[in-house]
Amino acid sequence: MTPPASYEKEYVAKTKKSKAHWEKVRRLIPSGVDSNVRFFEPYPFYVKRAKGPYLWDLDGNKIVDYALGYGPMILGHNHPAVVKAVKEQVDRGTMFGASAEMAYEYVNIVHKAMSSIEMFRFANSGTEATMHPLRVARAYTGKEKIAKAEGSYHGGHDYVLQAVDIPSDKLGPKNMQPAVPFGKGIPKRISDLLAIYPFNDWPATEEVITKNADELAAVIVEPVQAGGGCFVPRDNYLKKLRRLTKELGIVLIFDEVLTGFRVAFGGAQERYDVKPDLTAIAKVAGGGYQLAGFGGRKEIMEEIIPKDEGNVYHGGTYNAHPVSVTAGLTTLKILSKPGTYKRVDKIGGSLFRGLADVAADRGVDVWIESVGSLGQLYFTDKEVSTWRDAFDIDREKWKHWFMHCLGRGTFFGVPHADEHFFTSLAHSEDDISRSLEISDDAFRLIAKESS
Ligand SMILES: Cc1ncc(COP(=O)(O)O)c(C=O)c1O
Repeated sequence: MTPPASYEKEYVAKTKKSKAHWEKVRRLIPSGVDSNVRFFEPYPFYVKRAKGPYLWDLDGNKIVDYALGYGPMILGHNHPAVVKAVKEQVDRGTMFGASAEMAYEYVNIVHKAMSSIEMFRFANSGTEATMHPLRVARAYTGKEKIAKAEGSYHGGHDYVLQAVDIPSDKLGPKNMQPAVPFGKGIPKRISDLLAIYPFNDWPATEEVITKNADELAAVIVEPVQAGGGCFVPRDNYLKKLRRLTKELGIVLIFDEVLTGFRVAFGGAQERYDVKPDLTAIAKVAGGGYQLAGFGGRKEIMEEIIPKDEGNVYHGGTYNAHPVSVTAGLTTLKILSKPGTYKRVDKIGGSLFRGLADVAADRGVDVWIESVGSLGQLYFTDKEVSTWRDAFDIDREKWKHWFMHCLGRGTFFGVPHADEHFFTSLAHSEDDISRSLEISDDAFRLIAKESS
C-alpha cells in the first residue's frame, strides 16, 4: 500500500483497529462496507457506539458527527425519549402483521405537517418511497415516462438510477441530456423511459418537460437537490415547476426523503410554499429507524385501492413496522414543538457561515451551499447552484480538508466531495466552535500548499 498522504497521516495513526477490521471484513463484505457510499480512501472507520452528536470508533476516538446516519438523526443519536419509546414498544411486540393502531396517529402528524399529503402509505426506505409513487403516477396518468434531474439521487431502483453520475463521453447539452444508467446491471431500455432536466436551470427544464409532456407521467424532484452535493432552489424554480406540471397534466413528485422534517417541519414544500401532487419521505421521518412512505392527492393515491378494473400494487412485510413507527412518532412529536426549526437553522447557520468565514480568513476559495441544517462545502471561486456548476470543484482540496478534519475527530458527512453534511439539535456551540477550529487548521494547510 502506498504511504498515506500528509493529510491522511493523523487518521491512519489513530485508526489502527478500524484498519485491521476493514482488512478482515472486506473478505466477506464487498469493499468492507454495507453501502457503496460508506467507503472512502484509504479505508473507512468502524463505529462501536453513538450518543448525541458523537460517534465512538473501534479505536476509542470520539468523533463529532455531521453525517448523522446520512440524514435521519436530526435529534442526535439515541435521543432518550426515542430510546425509551422504542424499548417500551419492543416489550409490547415488534411485528403484528395486522396494522398497528399507532400508524394512524403517525399519518395524522404527517398530514398536518404536509397538507398536500391527503392519503399516505408506509414503506421501509427512501428507495421504496420513490419507487411506489412513480408507479402510482403512471397508473393515474396512463403515461410511462418519468422526468428526473441530472445528478439527482432518488434511491437504488432502476428507474431512478439514471443520469446520477454521467461519464464525460455521455454528457450532452443540458437541455438534451440522454438518460444513462448509473452503474452496470440496469437494463439499457429503461433509459428510454426517462427524460433528464437540469435542476435550477428553468429555461432548460421547461424545454425538456414541455418537449416530453405527452409521454410524461411524472416529474420527480429533490426540492433541494442533494444528489451531487447540495443545490438550493433559486428564482422560484419549484413554483415554476409546479405551474408547468399542472398545466401539462403531469404528476409532480417531491422526493422529500432528505428534506422532509429537516428544512422545515413540513419539509421543502413548507419552506418554499409549493404543493406537490405526491411526496416521498424517509430519513428524519423514521427517527433513525427503517421507516419511509409516500402520499399525496387523494384521487391519485386511490389508485392503490383494489377495484374491478385493477389497481396499483403496494405492499411490504415490514411496512409500518411498530418499532419504526414508534421511533418516528416520538421524533416527529419532539420536532413539532414551536421554535424547533429556528434552533435547527441557527445551529446549521453557525456551522455553515462559520466555515465560510474561516475559509475566507485563510484566503481559501470556497462556496458554501446550504439551507438550514443541510449543506456542502465546495472548493471553488464560483457560485455553485447547479449540478454542472460543481464539475470543476477542487476534489483534491476537499479530500484534504475532509481527511484532516476526520483525523482530528470531526466527520464532515457523507464522505465524498459531491455529497453533503448536516447538523443536529444535539450539536452544542462548543462542538461547532471546535469543528471550526479544526477546519481552520485544514484551510491553513491548504492555503500553505497552494501558495
Ligand atoms: C433524496 C433521496 N431520495 C431517496 C434516497 C434513498 O433512500 P434510502 O437510502 O433510504 O433507500 C435518498 C438517500 O440518500 C435520498 O437522499
